[in-house]
Amino acid sequence: MKNILKRIIVFFVCALLFSGSIVGYSDNTVKSATYANKNKVLVVYFSHTGTTKKVAKRIRKITGGTMFRIKEKNKYPSDYDQMLNVAQSEQESKARPAIKNKVKSIKKYDIILIGYPIWWGDAPMAVYSFLETYNLSGKTIIPFCTSGGTEISKSVKGIRKVCKKSKVKSGLTANDVSNKKLRKWLKKNKVIK
Ligand SMILES: Cc1cc2nc3c(=O)[nH]c(=O)nc-3n(C[C@H](O)[C@H](O)[C@H](O)COP(=O)(O)O)c2cc1C
Repeated sequence: MKNILKRIIVFFVCALLFSGSIVGYSDNTVKSATYANKNKVLVVYFSHTGTTKKVAKRIRKITGGTMFRIKEKNKYPSDYDQMLNVAQSEQESKARPAIKNKVKSIKKYDIILIGYPIWWGDAPMAVYSFLETYNLSGKTIIPFCTSGGTEISKSVKGIRKVCKKSKVKSGLTANDVSNKKLRKWLKKNKVIK
């Protein structure tokens, strides 16, 4: 009789421990799933005078993603007028200026948020250089820009042309955008919950 009682107690203790470990396991799964999701977001930006960089940093903070700055190999002239000329002739010739840095493992990212200033109505050509460097098929690309007033739409069309195998979202003109609006936009695009 004592033995049977002992066995019953051992059984219940084991059952309790086992169910505890199951709960613990599922809890861990949820945590790591959230963490893994964080790792899948890449926040890429190109910025000449720092405006887009500030927005990219805020997006990185909200999403917890990895940040990558597109650095041009050949610096633009420091003289403003000369810089405008170089940028304009790049746009006109649809140049693909060389980029000096690379994303380590693009494969692990599902969502690529890409920010840039509007140059002559479009994205700077270095952004296209970036997009054409990698195999982005199946990835979601979410553009955002800053500008003196021009909207993002023309550049999104351009991005869609070079990223035919990606899902390119309509993007955000992020001039004077509040954190609340950024969050709403990121939620709408299923980057955050
Ligand atoms: C070469 C060049 C071309 C630009 N073209 C436009 C334009 O077509 N429309 C516009 O609204 N702003 C234009 N701008 C202004 C920038 O888009 C704006 O200042 C942007 O916020 C700068 O971002 P950044 O500081 O990240 O470089 C231009 C700026 C430069 C330098």
